[in-house]
Amino acid sequence: MAIEGIDLTSMRSMVEEFPKLLGRILPDETLQTKLHKIELDKISGVCMIGMGGSAIAGRLCASLLLESANKPLISVQDYHVPSFLDSNWIVIATSYSGNTEETLSAVQEAIQKGCMTFGITTGGRLSQLIDTQNIARVPEGFQPRAALPILFSMQLSMLEALLRKSSTDLTSIGKKIELASKEWDTHMISPAELAQSLRNKIPLFIGSHFTEGIAYRAKCQVNENAKSAAFFAVLPEANHNEIESIADFKSAKIQPIFIRSLTESSRVKLRIEATTSIYEEEMDSCIHLQVKADSAAEELLQLVFYLDLLSLEMAVLRNVDPVGVERISKLKKILSSN
Ligand code: F6R
Repeated sequence: MAIEGIDLTSMRSMVEEFPKLLGRILPDETLQTKLHKIELDKISGVCMIGMGGSAIAGRLCASLLLESANKPLISVQDYHVPSFLDSNWIVIATSYSGNTEETLSAVQEAIQKGCMTFGITTGGRLSQLIDTQNIARVPEGFQPRAALPILFSMQLSMLEALLRKSSTDLTSIGKKIELASKEWDTHMISPAELAQSLRNKIPLFIGSHFTEGIAYRAKCQVNENAKSAAFFAVLPEANHNEIESIADFKSAKIQPIFIRSLTESSRVKLRIEATTSIYEEEMDSCIHLQVKADSAAEELLQLVFYLDLLSLEMAVLRNVDPVGVERISKLKKILSSN
């Protein structure tokens, strides 16, 4: 399975196609029907397993379904699944390569516990562990993190089928995001300008509630694409600890970037404004990122797209190859040979 028009050796080519990849590859009819047939009232919850770039889709789907999911959605980024998982839990495991050891270990445990297990992958050992008809195949050749729009589309459609939610029209959202991105410079700083202003600084992406997964994705993308330090924090929790450390932010060149959302409650809005004014007593300005969007899904995906581009622009300024992940591969090699 290949996707025409994308240069898989270029991170820019992969990232720029983000909007067009949304909704392009969805679960086939057999899989959709199977998910639809699962009796919802017999399910305790859905456990999403995956690591790194393959874990993000699940975390973002959980954010999106946070207010409306009628079952618990949990995310496992580890070797083990929680002890309370039993055969009433559905598992969706994502591993782009299909060979990530933590994911395989957690999947084996889930299968032993009798969980009905689905996989999203290009193949690898994951596709051998799980029933063929429970596998959603995705095209090969991407860096896993750049396959996010594909993995996210697959995962959201599977969850929507399972939880009997109406399906989000990701193709239309992709088109809207593409148009919206052309107007970013009329109302917000562009990814390239933001990358310039982050030169020699360490971004601290701050999310809250719905935007937590977005902040986490941004941190990971800056780490992997720009090979640069980046952190993320979540409000309100960070107001109970991290706020006391801000005296170090200026000397450590930490730049707080608040990820804002149209879904923010009035308390969260007030909290972000108050946090900003306390931070700014001890450092230069905080940055706030907010996009214009008509729905939560569009807002979430547009912010992820924007921040993916930011990580790319940071890579350009740092003169590093955004594609390769030499150290991740080195570590995987050591672990697989022992
Ligand atoms: C590399 C990347 C990594 C991988 C992770 C797990 O682009 O994003 O974070 O996603 O090492 O590997 P997979 O996705 O193959 O299970």
